[in-house]
Amino acid sequence: MEVNAVRGMHDLFGDEVHKWLFVEGKITRILSSFGYQEIRTPALEKIDVFSQTVGLQTDIVEKQMYLVKESDTEMLVLRPEGTASFMRAVVEHGLHRSGQAQRYFYYLPMFRHERPQKGRLRQFFQFGAELINDPTPHADVELLFLFNAIYHSLGVTEYETEINSVGCAVCRPKYVEILRAFYKPKAAELCPDCQKRLDRAPLRILDCKNEPCRSFAKEAPLILDHLCQECSSHHQELKVQLQKMGVPFKENPRIVRGLDYYCRTAFEFTSPLLGAQNALGGGGRYDGLSERFGVPAFPAIGWAFGVERLMLALDQKQSPYPPVPKPFAYLAPLGEQAFTYLFNLSLKLKKNGIWVEMSYDKDKKLKGLLKEADRWGAELAIILGDDELNASQAVLRNMNERSQENVALDNLEQEVIRRYQRAP
Ligand code: HAM
Repeated sequence: MEVNAVRGMHDLFGDEVHKWLFVEGKITRILSSFGYQEIRTPALEKIDVFSQTVGLQTDIVEKQMYLVKESDTEMLVLRPEGTASFMRAVVEHGLHRSGQAQRYFYYLPMFRHERPQKGRLRQFFQFGAELINDPTPHADVELLFLFNAIYHSLGVTEYETEINSVGCAVCRPKYVEILRAFYKPKAAELCPDCQKRLDRAPLRILDCKNEPCRSFAKEAPLILDHLCQECSSHHQELKVQLQKMGVPFKENPRIVRGLDYYCRTAFEFTSPLLGAQNALGGGGRYDGLSERFGVPAFPAIGWAFGVERLMLALDQKQSPYPPVPKPFAYLAPLGEQAFTYLFNLSLKLKKNGIWVEMSYDKDKKLKGLLKEADRWGAELAIILGDDELNASQAVLRNMNERSQENVALDNLEQEVIRRYQRAP
């Protein structure tokens, strides 16, 4: 058997895990202070959850879903994104019914069968924030502000926020017709993918990175010139509010996003700190998505960002992380009786929240034990041999200063706790 993780999927361990824990902690604290509560949905969903929402003509549904056979008639899918699963859960549990604004976040692995490259994985983690039941542009502002609060708290400011409106069920179909009419005479020159898109998903041609589709897109009619009154005022008000709240943004009328459920506001965060996959995150409104789950439309907006891409940006900036935790003390027993005593002490200290280490190999000599204490980077070594036991004392050795003192066994636990609490 070849001993490899699946291509595009990574193990996370050692110092890397500490970096992630630090970043996750910061992010979840900010999400909580903005009133977002965690929701955890299963990794597997019925296929319709995505095919009926993300869109049949999208890359995700067409090419990237991991399918799992549930039975001869039912296929399941490893979640490629969080919003459709979130909406399935909202509808299933009636979380929208109060009509009041509700805020949720998720931190979950996503699965997309893409061609792996730097910043593009087959299993990747997303933090997502979703706000339901608020139709106002203030909700949009909050989400964009929240994204900035998170990234700025981690020291990442080198990115651009691009916003657009993709219209709604009233104005978008008319715009799509105008766009199709624009591309029809150029059909033969479009790339093979876009030739297929022309009939069923012409908006996506605007997003194509191939030439000459890219050049044509520069000339293409813009959705912002074809919005209905409601979409247009929402977009104008959003821009006014963003300015008032000091949230920087750039309008990019060619943002269409790779998922079909958006209406009105759509946005992307792109950063030069990343390589070709320069999207830190993205999101938008999806006011009508609940209808696909058989429930009347209610307002919703959110974003998600890839945690691996955030970590890449932090690495690029060589951001400092808090030091990797080390055990406070190393327990060094010499002999059977001392071993039993220190084994018991180690368990009690751990139960008190103090990380201590000791070897369960009873034959180690003092020199070897102290070497091990050094390897662990422990501040303190607690040495106990027969002589010390007879005198009801233990030796506390300060590993940095190489100094030692004796402490009565009766006070040992309290003394270690006291020193731990005093430690920087
Ligand atoms: P998305 O643009 O497909 O949107 O993904 C959001 C972010 O996930 C991307 O900007 C990127 O940082 C990260 N990402 C996507 N694919 C990969 C990959 N293969 N490897 C590593 N990172 C990746 C959504 O998923 C929407 N559900 C966002 C949303 C939430 N819209 C409304 N609410």
